[in-house]
Amino acid sequence: MEIKNIVVVGAGTMGNGIAQTAAVSGYNVTMTDVNDEILEKAIATITKSVEKLAQKEVIDPAQKKAALEIETSTDLKVVEDADLVIEAATENPELKLSLFADLDALAPPRAILASNTSSISLTKIGAATERPDKVIGMHFFNPVPLMKLLEVVRGLATSDETTGIIVEVGRTMGKEPVEAMDSPGFISNRILCPMINEAIYAYHEGIGTAEAIDTVMKLGMNHPMGPLTLADLIGLDVVLFVMEVLHRDLGEDKYRPCPLLRKMVDAGYLGRKSGRGFYTYN
Ligand code: 3HC
Repeated sequence: MEIKNIVVVGAGTMGNGIAQTAAVSGYNVTMTDVNDEILEKAIATITKSVEKLAQKEVIDPAQKKAALEIETSTDLKVVEDADLVIEAATENPELKLSLFADLDALAPPRAILASNTSSISLTKIGAATERPDKVIGMHFFNPVPLMKLLEVVRGLATSDETTGIIVEVGRTMGKEPVEAMDSPGFISNRILCPMINEAIYAYHEGIGTAEAIDTVMKLGMNHPMGPLTLADLIGLDVVLFVMEVLHRDLGEDKYRPCPLLRKMVDAGYLGRKSGRGFYTYN
């Protein structure tokens, strides 16, 4: 099946990055969210990003134009014409399962329903629909236009055909698709979030300042950004959510979220998006 029309559900950081990347790769893209304000903000983010990428000649003028032509809607009914739906809504399991039931009812039978979930079981999401063979994880990384990886996550019922199509779409989007089994945190967050959680423990125990911890990992391990800076980029609420899933579903104490992480989320210190996390932002 040829994929032409992609609908991205959710226009936040990940959703707008996915929509932008799909549009510059030649797909017809529509982005949906619950209100116009979020969609306007998403378009402003995309505009800024493609201007920068065009200036650097990473994309050509036609690709920039394609990104500026992304359509938006607050009506989920736009999935009626979709070949592929990529969901990038809030990481809330109940919301996600009910959203997939709605998408299943509205999207044509041929459409593949993908989720950018960072930790919710694709097998469960698939079971909320009548087409679990066409449900799959497309896990992108922030900032989506720059990061090369696409983690392709197969639920128990995901078919080989669906997986093959999504691997191809990932390649067309300029990504390197890597397949992972449907297990808590998949490959990426099974490894990344415990590392970040450990950095938060080190900070909490006063082993080093935030700057010291980040500098050690940047200069000693060649990470492009330190784990606390990265936590601020990802969102502390997302890191906490992933740790809770790992702790609950794998049942081992080594995944216990650091109490400071929990406290910061309770205080609304969510990182860059709230202006404050381990660092402060304007
Ligand atoms: N679009 C276009 N350009 C962008 C951009 C975007 N979305 N985001 C950043 N840039 C540009 C910057 O503006 C900057 O441009 P300039 O050189 O002209 O000023 C350029 O990219 C380089 O950025 P910086 O100078 O700020 O810093 P870096 O050289 O460190 O690069 C980075 C930024 C690519 C984000 C790099 O630091 C990095 O790779 N960090 C790690 C990111 C990471 O690990 N992401 C995964 C998070 S986990 C996740 O998403 C999964 C989830 O499930 C948790």
